[in-house]
Parts: sequence; C-alpha cells; structure tokens
Amino acid sequence: MNENNDLKGKTAVVTGAARGLGQEYVVAMAACGMNILAADRDDCAETAGLAKGPGKVECVTVDVANAASTVAMAKAASDAFGRIDVLVNNAALYGGLASGPFDRIEEAEWDFCMAVNIRGVWNACKAVVPAMREAGGGSIINISSLAATYGLPYSLHYTTSKGAVIGMTRGLARELGRHWIRVNAVAPSAVMTDATKEFFGEKLDRAAEVIRDGQSLKRNLEVQDLAGTILWLASDASRFVTGQTIMVDGGTTFL
Ligand SMILES: NC(=O)c1ccc[n+]([C@@H]2O[C@H](COP(=O)([O-])OP(=O)(O)OC[C@H]3O[C@@H](n4cnc5c(N)ncnc54)[C@H](O)[C@@H]3O)[C@@H](O)[C@H]2O)c1
Repeated sequence: MNENNDLKGKTAVVTGAARGLGQEYVVAMAACGMNILAADRDDCAETAGLAKGPGKVECVTVDVANAASTVAMAKAASDAFGRIDVLVNNAALYGGLASGPFDRIEEAEWDFCMAVNIRGVWNACKAVVPAMREAGGGSIINISSLAATYGLPYSLHYTTSKGAVIGMTRGLARELGRHWIRVNAVAPSAVMTDATKEFFGEKLDRAAEVIRDGQSLKRNLEVQDLAGTILWLASDASRFVTGQTIMVDGGTTFL
C-alpha cells in the first residue's frame, strides 16, 4: 500500500486498538508512515510495541460509550500530532456478548451493545469532526460486519448494531460532505480473532466452514485481507468515495 504516499504524516485515531483487528490496523497504518492515536478501554501498550513505524503511535484510554471520554480522546490526538485526518471506529462489543434467540437477549445486554456499538461510533464522530473540519477534510471509517449485510441470527443485538452503523454512515456522509469529510463503512466477514473465538465458542470450526462455503472465494478471511481496504479508505486514492459500505467478505453479499 506504499503507493498511497499521501498517508505519510497523516494522523489517525483508531478505537478498539488494544487487540484484534484494531491492533492490526494500527500496525499497518504505522508502516505507511501515519501517526496514530491507539484508543481502547484497555491498555494499547502491546499495540504500540508491535507497530514498527515509521509512523508514531500514542496510546489513550477511552470509553467510546461516554461522550466526554471521546472528546478527551480527540484532544489527545490533536495535542500529540496537531491534526486528525482519519478516524477508524473499530471499538465494539462482539466476542463477549451473550448470544441466543432474539427473545432471550437480556434487556441490559441489548442496551449495553447499542451504547458501545452505535452511540460509541456517534460519540467518536462528534469528537473528531471539529479537528477534521479545521484540517479541511478527513476520512471516517466505521466498522460494520457481515452480521448486518447477511443478517446473522441468534445475535440480534450485535446484528442490529452493525446495521445501524451502515445507516449512520450514509446519513453522516451526506451531512459532512460539505466539509470534505468522507464517511464509509467496512463490513468484514469473520476473521479468527480472539473475539471471534469467544463469539462462536465450540461452534467456531463449523461457523468458519459455513462462512467459507457461502463465499465466492473459498478461504476464510485473514486480517491482512482487511488492511488494504482500510488504508485505501484512509488515503486520497478513495477521495470521491463516501457513504459506501465495502464488503470484505470474499464475495458473500453483493449490493
Ligand atoms: N473479528 C471478526 O471476525 C469481525 C468481523 C466483522 C466485524 N468485526 C468488527 O471488527 C471490530 C474489531 O473486532 P475484533 O475481532 O478485533 O474484536 P475485539 O473484541 O478483539 O476488539 C474490540 C476492541 O474494542 C474494545 N472496546 C470494547 N468496548 C469498548 C469501549 N466501550 N470503549 C473503547 N474500547 C472498547 C475492546 O477492548 C477491544 O480491544 C469490531 O467492531 C467488530 O464488531 C469483527
């Protein structure tokens, strides 16, 4: 992805960066020379250690469900790097969620999922947009899921939250276009992260098989398959793309 020379020196805020996919996005962005604020409710020190540069990585603790916490996150990015060009809204409740039939999901679990997976995305957008406006534009990348584009059953709170991310992406793209801020979503299939192992539990192997069988490309998604799309959306190579949901799912779902 080094042909995207415009990434060098850009600043990104990546939420949910302590482990899993968020960690990989930080490593890939740093390799392209981006400066990154790695944000998570957990410590991002491991992520900072894995990122070999040339971009710099700073860490901050955030609870995306809390608006004031996301404002502090945006301030930390501006203080560290002077601007915010890219936001990756990756933080979400996924692996630890209790799944089951739609009418057996606890109300508190439903509300917690919406608070983090939807309100958290909204909060982070509100927090970084002033800095993006000041910078003359930016790119917001919201992480949705195959759960929404396919319609995953037995995790209706998660599926619903990731569908809302697509709606938010579309509405916000129309609101922010006048400021040259692009807003897109990425909907990955399942990658075998720790969270995916937690999510599917003992059904993991069977789920991986079913997902693979449903794809046009017959292998399971790997994290390296996602980084290119994230970097492309962060870069000026995608400068006229906004409001879109890019399915990185090996050809499972089509618009
Ligand atoms: N792994 C997959 O197969 C897959 C597929 C499709 C979409 N996704 C999405 O990709 C993203 C990352 O998935 P992952 O597998 O790396 O999951 P993960 O659980 O490893 O990562 C999520 C991160 O978000 C953080 N987080 C949770 N609540 C937070 C909060 N309130 N404030 C700040 N940080 C918080 C967690 O600490 C964690 O580090 C999620 O949005 C997930 O829904 C994952």
